[in-house]
Amino acid sequence: MQTHIINNYRYGISKKNNYILIVSILKIAKLGHPVLLKKSSEIKEFSTDSLKKIIYDMSETMIDYEGIGLAAPQVHLSKRVIIFRNPDIEEKEKIKITPLINPTFKPIGDEKEDAWEGCLSIPGMQGLVSRFKKISYYGYDLEGNKFENVAEGLHARVVQHEIDHLDGILYTSRLADYKAFGFEKEIIEFWKNEKNR
Ligand code: NI
Repeated sequence: MQTHIINNYRYGISKKNNYILIVSILKIAKLGHPVLLKKSSEIKEFSTDSLKKIIYDMSETMIDYEGIGLAAPQVHLSKRVIIFRNPDIEEKEKIKITPLINPTFKPIGDEKEDAWEGCLSIPGMQGLVSRFKKISYYGYDLEGNKFENVAEGLHARVVQHEIDHLDGILYTSRLADYKAFGFEKEIIEFWKNEKNR
């Protein structure tokens, strides 16, 4: 069994004040569902059991679907909450998940890079997306403490992708080339395989 760690909180089914927190796998909203196109609202209250449950359930859902990031609108909840795995500090048998509430980012420099992205709301497909290479981002943790970080590469890309979800933006509207979008199998065969290019 894997150990999941969220900002040093170990979770699972825990008993607290006779309240049993049961973690659930949530249903993912797919492309075409209007919740994915809406601007989400800010979280105003921190440290609540409901906020904790949202984050635990989102984490379990992301792990189950083998995603690297998930935004609340993807589980039909129009709130400014994202979670992501930090690809820089992945350890064996441990998944480090960062929850970020009311997040924002700023690019550091104006350099952009193109890379292939997928999204749990657009299963089986990939698109080539242009993103800022280096960013600084901040948001709040479960208790409302401010959290700041600097990221580049995949880490920066995941944060930008997830924050976009909170504004109703999907990667399909940020394609580096409108033709660079399709089913995984075809993308691998015709775009990533040098021989077929
Ligand atoms: Ni996505």
